[in-house]
Amino acid sequence: MSDIATSPGFWNRGISRRRWIRHLAWVTPGYAGVHARWIEPDWLAVRTYRLNPKPTIRIAHFTDIHHRGDEGRIRDVVGRVNRLNPDFAVFTGDLVEEAPMFAPALDILSTIRCPLYGIAGNHDHWAKVDFRLAKAAFAKTGGAWLKDEAQLAANGRVRLLALDRLPALAEPADGVMNLVLMHYPAWADRLPYRADLLLAGHSHGGQVRIPFYGALVKPHDVGRYEMGWYDTPAGRLYVNSGIGSLQVDFRFNCRPELAVFEV
Ligand SMILES: [Fe+2]
Repeated sequence: MSDIATSPGFWNRGISRRRWIRHLAWVTPGYAGVHARWIEPDWLAVRTYRLNPKPTIRIAHFTDIHHRGDEGRIRDVVGRVNRLNPDFAVFTGDLVEEAPMFAPALDILSTIRCPLYGIAGNHDHWAKVDFRLAKAAFAKTGGAWLKDEAQLAANGRVRLLALDRLPALAEPADGVMNLVLMHYPAWADRLPYRADLLLAGHSHGGQVRIPFYGALVKPHDVGRYEMGWYDTPAGRLYVNSGIGSLQVDFRFNCRPELAVFEV
């Protein structure tokens, strides 16, 4: 605390304690608004989780880019992924909200220097994007755009189970790490099997999270799985808070996220 604030005569010199509190009551929400609109949406958090005491595979996970033309945001994610040098990266849907944004977003994602695997989200479907573009862009990285299929990654050590609809068509296999990629977290309650790890997005963590309460608003098919780790009937689930914002570029107490799993 500064000298002036601790001076005994401070509160009596022209500005009362009550007046200060009134100023703070205005300034604090004002700052929170500026922070939520202009700072937090681009304040990428890189969170690393070691799931094995002696990990041999590093997986990067990002989701829900909702690209609306801010190329710097995707380039930041691509740069971070490339510097992390994972064995492979996964994307769990909602690249765009409108079809014309699809090709520019894919152009940037295709510069990821590790195999990138991905699935569609509801907004990609609603935008009626051309998924052939995604297949070409993801193949360029050595990965694949997936839809209701299984795909081996990391030299056959990981079996990706990519879900686009239920009931799930691809099933786990023995002798490999089974990793489910799905857009909707609540699907963890509807899978007929258990997997080693499930990754999902879609929730954006709520985008605005009230301290001691949680997400202010949740999309459909999120259920109780708002953000972070959960034990589910289908196995351990991680819900990523996503990169972009839904409709309005606004985040509070819910930073955009690149997750890294060491397994
Ligand atoms: Fe979504």
